[in-house]
Amino acid sequence: MRWVGTSWKMNKTLGEARAFAQVLRGIDWGSAPYAGVRPFVIPPFTALATVCEALRGTPVLVGAQTMHWEDAGAWTGEISPPMLRDCGATLVELGHSERRAYFAETDEAINRKVAAALRHGLRPLICVGENAAERRAGREGAVLRRQVEEALRDIPAEHARNVLIAYEPVWAIGRDGTPAEPGYVAATIGALRAAMPAPFAAASLLYGGSVDAANAATYAGLDGVDGLFVGRAAWEVEGFLRILSAVGRA
Ligand code: PGA
Repeated sequence: MRWVGTSWKMNKTLGEARAFAQVLRGIDWGSAPYAGVRPFVIPPFTALATVCEALRGTPVLVGAQTMHWEDAGAWTGEISPPMLRDCGATLVELGHSERRAYFAETDEAINRKVAAALRHGLRPLICVGENAAERRAGREGAVLRRQVEEALRDIPAEHARNVLIAYEPVWAIGRDGTPAEPGYVAATIGALRAAMPAPFAAASLLYGGSVDAANAATYAGLDGVDGLFVGRAAWEVEGFLRILSAVGRA
């Protein structure tokens, strides 16, 4: 089974989210080319309950783009793990490079969120990746090691099978991103796997950053890659389905 998911980031009205989910609802997930893929979508908070409701009973998992680590309290603007559960979410994306860069999210905060997610039965999708300067300095191995070690600090080993890691080189993400060479991804995923704290060595590793329908099968087929995490190329449902099919057929 290969994971293939998309975060919509700060996009989509309720109507657009509903329309996307309705198309997914109509897919026969048990048949080719979709039978071997595990799809997930990560809407903005405003569409979370609607999308969860629309996809209930399908194999499509639904997640949130971030959350707070506390259950409740005076944290204006934040959303808690029980609130995500209440909406029907089963997954939560944590530590995306945009959260780290623009909202000053630290490794320590991400670690608290990972612990809170697992405590509440949410599957954390932990995003890691080196930026361009770190890559130029040849520091990607050290950066990835630090990010996974810190994110998983003191997380009980019994949770290992519920943890997803997305390796996304920051320089490969978004409109100005440069798609990574598959050889580089394979080598870095290998290094990341080797750097995972022992109980988490077998956690699923996804690749993300400028993934599209043309390169999806190549990235998904790399040794050590257990799936794909997609932005722009999956924001239209047709694009998402093209990527799911490419991975399912590969
Ligand atoms: P992208 O985004 O596919 O648009 O490059 C990837 C991501 O941020 O996860």
